[in-house]
Amino acid sequence: MSVEWGEHLAVGVTAVEEQHKEMFRQINLLMDAINQGKGADQVIPLLDFLQEYTVDHFRDEEKIMVESSYEKLEPHRIEHEQFRLEMENLRLRVRTEGGTRLNVLMTSRALLHWLVQHIYSADKDLADHMRTTRGIACLT
Ligand SMILES: [Fe+2]
Repeated sequence: MSVEWGEHLAVGVTAVEEQHKEMFRQINLLMDAINQGKGADQVIPLLDFLQEYTVDHFRDEEKIMVESSYEKLEPHRIEHEQFRLEMENLRLRVRTEGGTRLNVLMTSRALLHWLVQHIYSADKDLADHMRTTRGIACLT
């Protein structure tokens, strides 16, 4: 069962929006691969890509927060860090142990749910902040 990006998750900031959609697409690809019983040789490249893409996306968001003097930068950054660590743990587990299908699937689902929650609260709050500051020009 996949979870798709939907309008209810829109933050109204084009660059961020496109990256969120891609993250959903990548996590769903990962879960599909696991569901289809694909081996570590196919799962690892998907995890590597997701990890790299996520790090870039968080870096972009954090840059926006710094540039716009966003007062909730630190708690937002901590949430990003937790996700990064979860991703890294999952990747290391699959790389070293192969990772059981159930294990990886459950973690991937947890990542997806985390992403939904994060966009719904922290990212929407950031987008609201951007709309009320002059920094919005750098986001679109
Ligand atoms: Fe974020």
